[in-house]
Amino acid sequence: MKRRGFLGKVAGGAVAGAAGIAQAQDSKTAPAAAPAVDPNAPLVKTPAVVMAPQSDGVEVVWAVSRLARGHVEWKAEDGSSGTAGADRFGFVPQGDEILRVKLSGLKPGTAYQLRAITDSVDNKEHIEGPWKKFKTLNPNAKETQFVVWNDTHQNEETIKRLHAVTPTGDFLLWNGDTCNDWHQEDWLVPTLLHPAGQDISEGRPMLLTWGNHDVRGKWAFRVPEMIATPQGRPFYAFRSGPVAFICLHTGEDKPDNHPNFGGRVAFESLRREQAEWIKEVSARPEFRDAPYRVVFCHIPLRWTQEITEVGYDKGGYDAFSRFSRDAWHDALVAWKTQIVISGHTHSPASIAPNEKFPYAQLVGGGPRPEHATWTEGKADANALTFVMKNLEGKVVHEVTLKPLV
Ligand SMILES: [Fe+2]
Repeated sequence: MKRRGFLGKVAGGAVAGAAGIAQAQDSKTAPAAAPAVDPNAPLVKTPAVVMAPQSDGVEVVWAVSRLARGHVEWKAEDGSSGTAGADRFGFVPQGDEILRVKLSGLKPGTAYQLRAITDSVDNKEHIEGPWKKFKTLNPNAKETQFVVWNDTHQNEETIKRLHAVTPTGDFLLWNGDTCNDWHQEDWLVPTLLHPAGQDISEGRPMLLTWGNHDVRGKWAFRVPEMIATPQGRPFYAFRSGPVAFICLHTGEDKPDNHPNFGGRVAFESLRREQAEWIKEVSARPEFRDAPYRVVFCHIPLRWTQEITEVGYDKGGYDAFSRFSRDAWHDALVAWKTQIVISGHTHSPASIAPNEKFPYAQLVGGGPRPEHATWTEGKADANALTFVMKNLEGKVVHEVTLKPLV
């Protein structure tokens, strides 16, 4: 895969913040603080991250070091081109930390290029980012191919190696636990938009599902400012070729009122809302009639050993989200969910369907390089296969599903 500097026409320059992420080895190790913002720092701090692919567009998010305006230019192989630079309230997208531009009206399954344009508020700086290739999703394609990461937890070596070995695809699904809790506000930008200094959405637009660590810490509420999703919520559904995907937010791994959460979380109501939404979305023809039906959520809905007494007041936490499963199981079974893809346990697993739980459960590995995995999904008319590999290229788990219709 071709690697390019994201700074485009800006010469050189260190990326503020990215160097501040320590090599955290697991969820118990907090990274070092990012350096304070330098008034002479480059205006553009991160690559233009291509997120939330849909059949008619994507959303582009990037970070700046001071107040600026942003817009995006796009072009297609057929010679068509355009500019996107208006928010829903009639403003040109602007901000002193994050710029977001939504592209819509594009054609499905089509190759495009885009670049982010950034203007400082005093108009003294005008930065044209490099052209970056992307493709819109195609719900009517005969095939799809995508890749999945999980539980990177700011481990720089793991992220760099994952980025190097993972192929391009219709999308990259980052299945939660990007961080080790948001104790510091300045960890957000480098962790989400420029992890380990990599441009992770190059050649594979990114989608995020929220992990329990992504919602932890006093600055976690700011993640939605930096992460675009297809429908603007942390739960969403989309179709790519013959596969319908429902992405869910399993919330925390302890009850909302646990003292560790400081009164900051309200996942019991979000799970109930998602239960109703699954029923609604799965009744739409493109999901109801899809040949393959896949769910992504960070915390598994099944686990190899399901204990009933977790002991939350004694340091216990959910290895699988019984709260989520209790809320969603019936709707997921009614939709004929074939497989749930998760992370969270830092221990890869593949659990076959059974009479009580007719959906398979696939779980990826953990943040340390020796435990990390990535999964490639490929679907055509004959089968949907998932191949999970470790960083050495060894196959850890493989699952093949036949089409339902
Ligand atoms: Fe994790």
